[in-house]
Amino acid sequence: MTGTAFRALAKASQFSEGAMIAVAGGHGADVLLARVEGEWFAVSNLCSHLRAELHRGTLSGHRLACPLHGGAFDIRNGAPIAGPVCRPIETYPVRLRGDAVEVAVPEQAAQQPGFEW
Ligand code: FES
Repeated sequence: MTGTAFRALAKASQFSEGAMIAVAGGHGADVLLARVEGEWFAVSNLCSHLRAELHRGTLSGHRLACPLHGGAFDIRNGAPIAGPVCRPIETYPVRLRGDAVEVAVPEQAAQQPGFEW
């Protein structure tokens, strides 16, 4: 079995507490990277409901709310915590190497473009 390679996607020094950004995770994957309570999280940036871009939503503690219909996820595990979403979003391993925030996004995470509105 081959592991998924970590790739540097952002600089830790550019993040303040509670910040989130959209980054290209490789393989065409759209990744949301966030820092909450000193921890780093990487999840799919596309809502599991109608694929709105989640970085346009809000992050309150570990609650990531979608901007389109108000669905929400727990950013720690991608679990849906408020409707209309009922399916989780993918989560990806994150590690720090110096100032680099590295994320391991598997090839099968490649996604279709987000919903335009
Ligand atoms: S697209 Fe996210 S809740 Fe509908």
